[in-house]
Amino acid sequence: MLQDGRVPHADDATTTAGGPTAGGPAASEPLPGGPAADDPTALDATTLDPAAMRAHYRDEGLSESDLAPDPFAQFALWFAQARASGLHEPNAMVCSTADERGRPSSRTVLLKKYDERGFVFFTNYGSRKGRELDANPYVSLLFPWHGIARQVIVSGTAERTGRDETVAYFRTRPHGSQLGAWASEQSSKVASRKELDAMFARLAERYPEGEDVPAPAQWGGYRVRPETVEFWQGRENRLHDRLRYSRTEDGGWTVARLCP
Ligand SMILES: Cc1cc2nc3c(=O)[nH]c(=O)nc-3n(C[C@H](O)[C@H](O)[C@H](O)COP(=O)(O)O)c2cc1C
Repeated sequence: MLQDGRVPHADDATTTAGGPTAGGPAASEPLPGGPAADDPTALDATTLDPAAMRAHYRDEGLSESDLAPDPFAQFALWFAQARASGLHEPNAMVCSTADERGRPSSRTVLLKKYDERGFVFFTNYGSRKGRELDANPYVSLLFPWHGIARQVIVSGTAERTGRDETVAYFRTRPHGSQLGAWASEQSSKVASRKELDAMFARLAERYPEGEDVPAPAQWGGYRVRPETVEFWQGRENRLHDRLRYSRTEDGGWTVARLCP
């Protein structure tokens, strides 16, 4: 639902200049102003020109009086609406970290849990992001809900979840994903695809389907405790709504409106 009670949908946005709708055309639909999407080589230069892609965003706004008292409740509402809209993987978020010299890096991860304590994802602690978070816990999470002209940006600090929480989640993963967590020394170089597949095959032999796979010591969760959470709603004429919650010293939240 939108703040006014409607469920948002990609069709709520319209398109000009041969660009995509805010939700993007379905793979089987012909692109506006171009040939079928399954023959990308046949697209003309105008259709592919990013400067000419201009989605018009919806008119419904986000006002201070619509907001929930805290960002977790507001996130829960928008997350439910993103899910109801049919967006693919609304729990996918861009996680940005920086090394000790301040050099940033980003990647997509999946949100697996959220509550008043923060936003949780799981990964390999020895990965690039894991190493960067060890050196510098500041992190940004961005939910790119383009299909409904919204984005949410969380900024805060990450800390490892407890081992019990990691193990409890690991047990819920499909068997193949559990083996994959063992097989991949995430972010390190591997000589070939063959080597990776061979490692997986050895593990599948050691832990056949149905057998308990222990959680690797180097694998686990991070909980991001937000300092700020921004809710961005696309509006017409690029006059978007941006409302940002900031944590106060007494543990409450204040909200500020930012220029788009
Ligand atoms: C849709 C999507 C979801 C992903 N989810 C995760 C995830 O939950 N955890 C994870 O470690 N990597 C996930 N990845 C892979 C990461 O984007 C990334 O390649 C990997 O974590 C290594 O990143 P790093 O070398 O920067 O640490 C996902 C990738 C995509 C495209």
